[in-house]
Amino acid sequence: MRLSAAEKRMLGGEKGPACELAMNILHDLGRLYGARRMIPVTQVHIDMTLYMVDAGVEFAEHMADLGGRFSVPTQLNPAAIDLIRPEKLRVPRGLLEKSRRLENAYLKMGAVPTWTCAPYQQGLIPSFGEQVAWGESNAVAFVNSVIGARTERYADLVDVCAAIAGRVPELGLHIDANRKAERLIELKGVPDDVFEGSRIFPVLGFVFGEIAGDRVAALKGMPERIAWDDLKAFSAAAASSGAVGLFHIIGVTPEAPDEKTCLKGGGRCPASVITPDMIDDAVARLDQGNCNAPDLITLGCPHYSVEEFRILDRLLDSRKITAGIEFWVFTSRKTYAEIEASDLLARIEGCGVKVFTDGCSLQYPKESWEFRCAMSDSAKYANYCFSQTGHDVIFGGVRDCVETAVAGQLRRTPLWK
Ligand code: F3S
Repeated sequence: MRLSAAEKRMLGGEKGPACELAMNILHDLGRLYGARRMIPVTQVHIDMTLYMVDAGVEFAEHMADLGGRFSVPTQLNPAAIDLIRPEKLRVPRGLLEKSRRLENAYLKMGAVPTWTCAPYQQGLIPSFGEQVAWGESNAVAFVNSVIGARTERYADLVDVCAAIAGRVPELGLHIDANRKAERLIELKGVPDDVFEGSRIFPVLGFVFGEIAGDRVAALKGMPERIAWDDLKAFSAAAASSGAVGLFHIIGVTPEAPDEKTCLKGGGRCPASVITPDMIDDAVARLDQGNCNAPDLITLGCPHYSVEEFRILDRLLDSRKITAGIEFWVFTSRKTYAEIEASDLLARIEGCGVKVFTDGCSLQYPKESWEFRCAMSDSAKYANYCFSQTGHDVIFGGVRDCVETAVAGQLRRTPLWK
């Protein structure tokens, strides 16, 4: 790998032991993948933020103790818990203590305490073509595909190294040639009116991700105007059912004005279709287990936006959640502050909804709650629910979630009219 004089000095320890260690890890990674050089990044989104094992805490603390400081603006993915309202989430003392250690280490190194998995909704949003280093699968897919900034799918620990060094090896999706689609996926027979609602987007993302796998693929036949939140749901689902780091929606996303521009070799590549039968099959598979009476309704995977809270408020229409059902929404501190400043938060909470910040909807303390069955509007949540929480799950649109919570029994409308 070719290194600049400054990079060689960093590798040799000129900027301290934390930077030396970070550069050595990045250098090894670059050599492993055949990168020719390092490139600077303008910002980092760290994924290794929720406590799962002690190794993550110890690595962050080790870097901070070595004097590591983030050299570019660095944001944080969710913690395992709501760091501001741990008692409301019934967080046990041990988990709180580990989460605080991670928090302290990252803040000591200079992180911005965003604690959100939708960093593209606020603050430091990169521009088209900007080279960044982001972790968190939904955020990576979104920033590459919808914004057109460039990041590889960074693993835990590597993101911390990138933040300290301000550099990454030039590989993968940082490079022009790797951003072209190797597969064309076309909607066949999907009626236009299904796009009037939002429920289709996570399901389509789920099917798209299964077909794309770890390849860049392009989707043809989508409406020209798609809301930011619907693209968010699509990205999260595609990145969970496949290893999608970049997708193109022809005529919608910025690197896909037309087929010829976004496909490798100008258009000759394998093609697949998505049909209504495949979508129905995916909807059926997103339900796991046999439950039809959810005792937890959970939204905000990825974190809810202000617009999504507005929709939730309209659907609730001041009606109360049935006793015995927990209704949770996860969001960022910034969105929380915005809905708190208007009447939105008070109205929603008045219906019995609990709003949490900082945390991940899949990582709540299971031992403190005895849920049997969850319902969510997120295909990513539904896809991971059983393996992460052990309870059954039902997938439905946000309207279905609200009607179920108010009625106290499952209410779900068909996807097709
Ligand atoms: Fe965010 Fe956790 Fe879902 S990090 S995208 S709420 S799985």
